[in-house]
Amino acid sequence: RSAHLYHQIIRQNGFPLPVEEEPIYGHFPEGFVWSVATASYQVNYIWDAFTHTAFRIANYDTGDIACDSYNKISEDVEMLKKLRVNHYRFSVSWPRILPDGTTRQINQAGLNHYHRLVDALLAANIKPQVTLYHWDLPQALQNVGGWENDTIIERFRDYADVVFSNLGDKVKFWITINEPYNVANIGSRPGTAPYIVGHNLIKAHAEAWHLYNDKYRAKQGGIVGITINSDWAEPRNPYKQEDIDAARRFLEFQIGWFAHPVFNGDYSDLMKNRIRERSLAGGRPISRLPEFTPEEVKRIKGTHDYFGFNHYTTILASNLDFKNLQGVGTIYDRTWLNSGSTWLKVTPPGFRKILNFIKNEYGSPPIYITENGISERGDMDLNDVHRIHYYESYLNQALKAYLIDGVDIRGYTAWTLMDNLEWAAGFDEKFGFFYVNHSDPSLPRIPKKSVTYYATMINCNGFPD
Ligand code: NOJ
Repeated sequence: RSAHLYHQIIRQNGFPLPVEEEPIYGHFPEGFVWSVATASYQVNYIWDAFTHTAFRIANYDTGDIACDSYNKISEDVEMLKKLRVNHYRFSVSWPRILPDGTTRQINQAGLNHYHRLVDALLAANIKPQVTLYHWDLPQALQNVGGWENDTIIERFRDYADVVFSNLGDKVKFWITINEPYNVANIGSRPGTAPYIVGHNLIKAHAEAWHLYNDKYRAKQGGIVGITINSDWAEPRNPYKQEDIDAARRFLEFQIGWFAHPVFNGDYSDLMKNRIRERSLAGGRPISRLPEFTPEEVKRIKGTHDYFGFNHYTTILASNLDFKNLQGVGTIYDRTWLNSGSTWLKVTPPGFRKILNFIKNEYGSPPIYITENGISERGDMDLNDVHRIHYYESYLNQALKAYLIDGVDIRGYTAWTLMDNLEWAAGFDEKFGFFYVNHSDPSLPRIPKKSVTYYATMINCNGFPD
């Protein structure tokens, strides 16, 4: 309720930040990457076996047409120009390039589409940031177990090879896999499966990184990384050691599950012990963390040119004894400002804290924020003051992390260019700078107020003096 009220107040009066959160005036480093993101299925099509199963997705929405970005390259580029971004993050659709998941059949028309898109971007002086896997998998691979089947590691490497060799002269920023935590947890059956999926995702990422490093880097000179997502975790009761430990566990599972192997070669001891311990609970193994061989540890360690990071919100963590493997209960403080998504509360200070966590845990890597943003629900709402408020306060925290704490932040990507298919929430939850009118068959895109705001921040490379 108080969050709702606050929402109304900022709509009417703007949003003076609380005293301790006054924006500092200052700039991001020169050459800072300012970007905005989409993902192929969310603005295009073909995620069909899932969206076409009734009851899975709100309103039976599908991505059959979505925003029809496939046919609207010039419109999309015009929107990017309005935002003044110098980069655009989008994903290549694996099934569009390799319809049966293997290199037996390469769909040249699909590759041509990405050439057209990349050429149009470069002509507008916007550099592409390309994600190889943003959740659309060829059905043929899903049929044989998807990410649970370790043959996918080779399939992914082959797919990466096709994309690097075709687009690598023009694309210099690669993201192998988007949010492996969600691929493992949401995309697979509970029990052992998430850990097997996670294991294969890490190895697939490492293979793609090595492939680029050995075969393409010298000639093409780009960078490759994985994008990890995490909420910040505050202990629910900051005076209770159990909750402090739970908050730590939350971060070690959500970030560390993937970052620990990629940066240090293996799963953290905490994760290994925790899962072994929980596996034996009740006398019956309920889950097992697969083990990397010593050769695999060596091969995975250091497969990063940067730390890619998606962040939206903060949770309050408390200790749970048996409910899940992490043993973490999560809730939100009821005074936190809402968004259009139940899982997203406006909690800017967590952003600075989690950026510091990454700096301290992983040897101060260069960080690219590859997603950050807020949603609303309901009909067209062009006066999106809540979005301006969100970006203002989150960018402010990022700037403090950079200027005061010395976090090596190299870029910031807002999610998302236009309202699109928010996965299981369908088109209800809107994260876009542009509204897409689905009742008009030409799908016109209409700028919200936040477009000018973001463009101004970019123009100043930070906060205006
Ligand atoms: C995470 C995902 O990468 C993206 O596909 C999704 O739409 C946004 N976050 C918002 O939930």
